[in-house]
Amino acid sequence: MTGPGDVVLRLTDVVKTFPGVRALDGVQLEVRAGEVHCLLGQNGAGKSTLIKVLSGLHRPDSGTVEWLGQPVTFSNPQAAMKAGIATIYQELDLVEDLTVAENVFLGHEPKVAGFVRRRAMVARTTGILGRLGHGEIPPRRAVHRLQAAGKQIVSMARALSHEARLLIMDEPSAVLAHDEVENLFRIIRELTAQGIAVVYISHRLEEIRTIGDRVTVLKDGRTTAADLSAAETPTSELVSRMTGRTIEYVFPPRVAAPAERAELLAVDGLSRAGEFTDVSLTVAAGEIVGIAGLVGSGRSELLETIYGARRADTGTVTVAGRRLPPGNVGAAVRAGLGMAPEERKSQALLLGEPIYRNMTLSTFTRIARLGFTSARRERDEADRVARSLDLRPSDVGRPVRTLSGGNQQKVVVGRWLLGDTRLLLLDEPTRGVDVGARAELYRVIHRLAAEGVGVLLVSSEVPEVLGLADRVLVMREGRLIRTASAGELDEDTVLDLVMAGSLMEGTPI
Ligand SMILES: Nc1ncnc2c1ncn2[C@@H]1O[C@H](COP(=O)(O)OP(=O)(O)OP(=O)(O)O)[C@@H](O)[C@H]1O
Ligand SMILES: [Mg+2]
Repeated sequence: MTGPGDVVLRLTDVVKTFPGVRALDGVQLEVRAGEVHCLLGQNGAGKSTLIKVLSGLHRPDSGTVEWLGQPVTFSNPQAAMKAGIATIYQELDLVEDLTVAENVFLGHEPKVAGFVRRRAMVARTTGILGRLGHGEIPPRRAVHRLQAAGKQIVSMARALSHEARLLIMDEPSAVLAHDEVENLFRIIRELTAQGIAVVYISHRLEEIRTIGDRVTVLKDGRTTAADLSAAETPTSELVSRMTGRTIEYVFPPRVAAPAERAELLAVDGLSRAGEFTDVSLTVAAGEIVGIAGLVGSGRSELLETIYGARRADTGTVTVAGRRLPPGNVGAAVRAGLGMAPEERKSQALLLGEPIYRNMTLSTFTRIARLGFTSARRERDEADRVARSLDLRPSDVGRPVRTLSGGNQQKVVVGRWLLGDTRLLLLDEPTRGVDVGARAELYRVIHRLAAEGVGVLLVSSEVPEVLGLADRVLVMREGRLIRTASAGELDEDTVLDLVMAGSLMEGTPI
């Protein structure tokens, strides 16, 4: 795939510091026209900081950036866009209250005599969305009404609305389901065939192997390897360049679960119009139940309804024999439910508050039960959890805002490790989490189960569902279409079920 592309972008010795953190400590990077250049590195290695330097959001302290042969400093993202560098950020930066079309053309609206040509803008947006395979997204809809995957597409449409020569994507697949990742790859191939360069960041090695040409590895803000072949470099080498050690990227063996498995959660006939229909399921103490399904299949909505963040139209949720009042998070938390939601920024984190606060503040009742008498205790407890999840930096006094994306995710999950959660609802728990920390997280989930906590888990990554769960539920278009023990299913079967529903409802294998 690697063409004889010219070097379009070259970074030499780039340094960027934040108070107390040397995020980039001498980075080298070279990107060629028409290639997919992958950036690999652990959570906090500096990947997002690097692309923010490239896109004009951060100024480097020192070092040089050469773009198309010229040294450049972009003073803001618009300047970078004008020069032909478009970026899709890890934390999407759309204006929620504007429409899809307004977001796509924000800052470069087609105008005549100073007036925005709305109709042209909408038409061009429709065209770009169609090219992205998502013609169904209405250009006039407010962005806040879209699901995460839809927002991602809008963000891509915005990048394509510029005549970009370099497209930077920071974990674009993190919010996408399996078939949408294939769609994304199709788009990337079209772009690179036109000579556009792509910088692609992902923690999923199999994606990098599928779409990537060359790999640059960052560790602690430095380039530890460059010009590696994406397809041929052995996984063990990639991982050891990232981490400085070797990690078994496998699912840890299950610690023996308690033999006595009392039923903990019973969901019966739960429905919400337009989201999911007649869902019944159970989770026993110490059991891990995984839900596989596409984005938009109703999985997240189901979890949120069980948690009481949404109110069911019909059906009941029972925890340890007691019915939960519908639409009441407080009651759910008091009954021992904990939830790590999908959209950590909007739903879960107080970004300006320190890490330990975010971990302990889940509810006051819980903290009271933990009996924190002092901030000191609170910090010590958070410290313990931070260590068990390999949080970096591990100083729990830092504001969450300054953490890298993957480390923020660890905080969201970490808060439920503190108290006496009986049932944990996890929506895409390893999204954006690097391979090393992912193994830690799996271990933590297993440990909780071994202690008798029930876990209901949603993941777009089928191997993760199969590797972690005792029992797998397959969800499609708002209905549970299959239940089986994880051992009875393989990845292809689950994918078939999820995508095409190739087996009839309820048909045993
Ligand atoms: N605005 C900021 N203020 C202070 N520190 C920051 C800020 N932004 C990033 N950092 C720190 O810089 C380092 C690099 O973070 P960065 O977000 O670039 O990591 P990353 O490689 O993108 O990780 P991830 O895979 O988790 O997204 C981290 O230690 C992070 O805590
Ligand atoms: Mg990042």
